[in-house]
Amino acid sequence: MNAFEKELTKKISQKKAVVGIVGLGYVGLPLAVTVAIKKFKTIGFDIQKKRTDMVNQGISYIGDVDEKELKEAVRTHYLEAGTDFSRIRECDIVCIAVPTPLDKYHQPDVRYVLQSTKEIAKAVKKGTLIILESTTYPGTTEEVVAPIFEKKGLAPGKDYFLSFSPERVDPGNDIYKTKNTPKVVGGMTASCNRVTEAFYSAILDAPVTAVSSPKTAEMEKILENTFRNINIGLINEMAILCYKMGIDIWEVIEAASTKPYGFMPFYPGPGIGGHCIPIDPFYLTWKAREFDYHTRLIETSSEINNYMPEFVVERIFSLLNRNNKTLQGAVILFLGVAYKKNISDMRESPALKILDLLNKHGADVRYNDPFVPSFIHRKKTYVSVPLKKEVLDSADLIVMITDHSVYDPADIIRKGRLIFDTRNITKGYRGEGVERL
Ligand SMILES: NC(=O)c1ccc[n+]([C@@H]2O[C@H](COP(=O)([O-])OP(=O)(O)OC[C@H]3O[C@@H](n4cnc5c(N)ncnc54)[C@H](O)[C@@H]3O)[C@@H](O)[C@H]2O)c1
Repeated sequence: MNAFEKELTKKISQKKAVVGIVGLGYVGLPLAVTVAIKKFKTIGFDIQKKRTDMVNQGISYIGDVDEKELKEAVRTHYLEAGTDFSRIRECDIVCIAVPTPLDKYHQPDVRYVLQSTKEIAKAVKKGTLIILESTTYPGTTEEVVAPIFEKKGLAPGKDYFLSFSPERVDPGNDIYKTKNTPKVVGGMTASCNRVTEAFYSAILDAPVTAVSSPKTAEMEKILENTFRNINIGLINEMAILCYKMGIDIWEVIEAASTKPYGFMPFYPGPGIGGHCIPIDPFYLTWKAREFDYHTRLIETSSEINNYMPEFVVERIFSLLNRNNKTLQGAVILFLGVAYKKNISDMRESPALKILDLLNKHGADVRYNDPFVPSFIHRKKTYVSVPLKKEVLDSADLIVMITDHSVYDPADIIRKGRLIFDTRNITKGYRGEGVERL
């Protein structure tokens, strides 16, 4: 154990380590609050001043962050935020939680990781622990992050510590939050692992598991999200086939779920969304090419998932037809535009793809979403309409896209004329102008 490791371990155990969180979004803000609540001095960094100002005022812009906790963390001076990256120098530990999107060619866009790491490297002091939390392809920590510090003459495990630790936050999940979700860490060296484990063990009420390298931890995270992508792809394919065969997919899943082992239910839907499931598997697809390997299953499953908005529109078209209506000029009301239940996140939401396809066919689309009061899409502003009888009744078709808990199927069926339910919200109601995916 070198002197830096001894000092950092001591600071962590005495809660004297100062923690910097770079990127204050869905991942970074809950993490910053979790660390501050455990009484570690925490500095949040972001390039958006509006966000850092809100943090300093104790205002939460992320649904999962309890504003009371945030306010308390700010009031007690355990948490503050800013855009001045020279303050990285004050930090003993820095977690990076910046976006990792795809570019227009569907290839990893690691520019935010690069930019933020360069800013950190300018101000970092020796002995600091750097942890990348952004989801990325196996090899990023070693090939993208470490060389930036190497250029400054810093070697991991010797002059500073470097690890990858994937973030597993599940927006909208009421049971598992940042603080009680088990964590995996993969350090560049054994000492990097030790200090990273010590840090997360001090702030989380959950087990921390160390793996042998950053790329193992990076791959582990991609496996989690690819597992979901592929299982959703499988069940979406089954849903398409069940429709053609006149079988109710929801009943099939319920029956299969009675098996106590070897089966895990996944549910079909209008398509996948969010910053993770549609994107992360492509980080692996891209990296696999370097090893002359083609990730066939990922691409096939993504193809099926990407087809779901089209399938939804085909079903809408046929449903309207059977009710003597055309898509052209039809008033269609979406219930839910967020990509998943009880959150406001619209990134990659299938609702937008369905909207585009319906607009192309001349439909008049309106929406209600209690979490999304308004949004701009293709330069047009859409405003959520209230769920009043006259609004529901005036729609030629109601399309249930997101299964927000507030939607009361009985009430919607009573007030609406024709309903297409992509999420089985209307489970238990048969006929009555309702069709399910
Ligand atoms: N959202 C999720 O549910 C989730 C879950 C697990 C993992 N992840 C991963 O976590 C990472 C972050 O995702 P997110 O959803 O929190 O993104 P986000 O867009 O909500 O937040 C990212 C924040 O980083 C800031 N930022 C961008 N460039 C910066 C820079 N150079 N320096 C400082 N701040 C910068 C942005 O302004 C933004 O506030 C991604 O890699 C994502 O794949 C996300």
